[in-house]
Amino acid sequence: MAEHTATHSAAADLPWWLQPAATVTILTAFGLYAIWAALQGHGYVAPYLSPFYSPPVTIAGIPISPAWWVLWGPFGFRATCYYYRKAYYRSYFLDPVACMIPESRRRYGGETAWPFIVNNVHRYFLYVAIIVLAFLWRDTVETFFPGGHFAVHAGSLLFLVNVVLLSGYTFGCHAFRHVAGGNLDCFSCARGGRLRYGLWQRVTALNQRHAQWAWASLFSVALADVYVRLLMAGAMPDPRLF
Ligand code: FES
Repeated sequence: MAEHTATHSAAADLPWWLQPAATVTILTAFGLYAIWAALQGHGYVAPYLSPFYSPPVTIAGIPISPAWWVLWGPFGFRATCYYYRKAYYRSYFLDPVACMIPESRRRYGGETAWPFIVNNVHRYFLYVAIIVLAFLWRDTVETFFPGGHFAVHAGSLLFLVNVVLLSGYTFGCHAFRHVAGGNLDCFSCARGGRLRYGLWQRVTALNQRHAQWAWASLFSVALADVYVRLLMAGAMPDPRLF
């Protein structure tokens, strides 16, 4: 309790603008980096496929970077995420800049009016994100079998950490929690209620740290792509651990 109070007061001592400024800086930097990585047109060095390029989609006759066929899904998922919405409403739009600060507009339509009503498509982006995540797990497993034999390299561990963080973020989603059991008034009355209750409890545990999963997985995706690009450039080795 004392530790919690100390942490809380340390956070309260920070200038109010620090958190929104950090959010703007990090999200903008990540967005610019993702655009730059997508413009490179490729992101593969055996056995690593950059998460920005998975699944590797190409359409004959359309000469654009394969990353553009993929990135709209994870981008839409994050852009409509409940946590990121709070973060960028406050940091980019200062609307509201924090709790207890009145709305700057006289009439507040929130997410019931254009343009933010679009954020309600989040539940559909969830399904796209789960499909992309399945491909990322497949890619990660393949990194442990370079040349058909089991081996553990630093890159494969990095890819594993990345998909674990992405899974924690994806399956801690508020929309997934709703699907798991949030839409029920009575678990014991529902078909498969015990199973759904167990799932809902696990999703809730992830959901309670959703912001942390969101940031950690954002960094790990960028780091995995940077790692692949350094290997592609021959700038560093990929140490074998086992
Ligand atoms: S609420 Fe954040 S991913 Fe769904």
